[in-house]
Amino acid sequence: METTEVQIHRGLRGIYIDNTQASFIDGNVGKLLYRGYDIHELAEKSTFEETMYLLLHGQLPTRAQLSAFDAELRAARPIPAEVIQIIRLVQRAHPMDVLRTAVSALAAFDPDVTNESPEAILRKGIRLTAQAATVVAAHERIRHGLDPVPPDPSLNHAGNFLYLLRGKRPDPEEAKTMDVDFIIHAEHSSNASAFAARVTASTLSDLHSAIVTGIGTLKGPLHGGAAEKVMEMAEAIGQPERAEEYVRETLKSHGRIMGFGHAVYKAEDPRARHLRDRSKVLGEKRGEPQWFQILTVLEQKAMVPYRARGIYVNVDFFAGSVYHLLGIPSDLFISIFAMGRIPGWTLQVMEQQAHNMLLRPLLNYTGPMDLPYVPMDQRR
Ligand code: CMC
Repeated sequence: METTEVQIHRGLRGIYIDNTQASFIDGNVGKLLYRGYDIHELAEKSTFEETMYLLLHGQLPTRAQLSAFDAELRAARPIPAEVIQIIRLVQRAHPMDVLRTAVSALAAFDPDVTNESPEAILRKGIRLTAQAATVVAAHERIRHGLDPVPPDPSLNHAGNFLYLLRGKRPDPEEAKTMDVDFIIHAEHSSNASAFAARVTASTLSDLHSAIVTGIGTLKGPLHGGAAEKVMEMAEAIGQPERAEEYVRETLKSHGRIMGFGHAVYKAEDPRARHLRDRSKVLGEKRGEPQWFQILTVLEQKAMVPYRARGIYVNVDFFAGSVYHLLGIPSDLFISIFAMGRIPGWTLQVMEQQAHNMLLRPLLNYTGPMDLPYVPMDQRR
């Protein structure tokens, strides 16, 4: 039998599936642009609301445009009482499972659920970004026996999230840290969750389904779960003097050092630096400098030999310590990543559907062929 040789691209590495105007990544030099703008400029000078507008509309807003966009985002924060009820019913689940379930339930109450016009996807993306913060915070309070706090329309997205979570207003520095975190997580090209969201969108399914797909895909420890694992690692290490030994032992048993390495970046992930300083300053302010010290030994000593193999810190490395220092429990870390990423997923869905083609790769079958069907009583 004649066989044609099949070329397998495991993990789809190096394969371009389409063009995009969302973000540009040069993994060799650690460069990231959203819609042409450098992530460093956005992290230092922009706000989450402005960056989200930039992503969804393709250009920086005027003052009036930003004000209208922000008002829409603030107005969309409340979630239906039925969804709060669902959160109560599933409160013991992992926060990502609760977020996934609540986003799915929100579809039932969304006035645009069956409307997949670009304008409707945009409206739904804005609503879901605002509502996701309310869901995550409401769940955190409910599972601790507290009632959810109503959103505060006088606070920006990041400040309101921290307020909903803790029931008291954050100080401006904390709110800015959260804002920067949301900016740097907002979009990242065809990573696993955005690709998964595109696959769902390519069937002409709806935005809520695509975001649910994204949330489910982000949950894994090789993607969004790393920040939580970094903090667990820092806690297991306990003190800076033990960091090098921890790395030696982990690598000896073929384990991975969480927060290091990236499928695309073979230089430092440009997003990491924006949480590095904040981790240091927040740690000193909170009287917990040890986390930054442990992370610094890992980055500056123990993992230095791995730079030659392109293994540097990624965005999650300092994120875990920053969230911990903001008083956020570790099982909420991935949900925060997801909240920040909803604008990126929404944009990718819009791009996918703007000139859609069903995403349908092939699998090369390597199993047996043409087996005779054996009746049950003749099987051994
Ligand atoms: N610790 C130890 N070794 C590593 C690490 C690490 N963190 N990352 C990669 N390597 C080694 C790996 O063992 C392998 O070695 P060998 O060739 O000897 O088998 C080699 O590098 C290539 O690994 P790979 O998994 O094939 O490479 P990848 O480019 O697909 O890895 C990664 C990307 C993120 C899955 C991986 O670096 C990893 O597991 N990192 C830890 C988890 C993590 O921090 N994830 C967050 C990613 S950033 C947030 C996001 O965008 O999702």
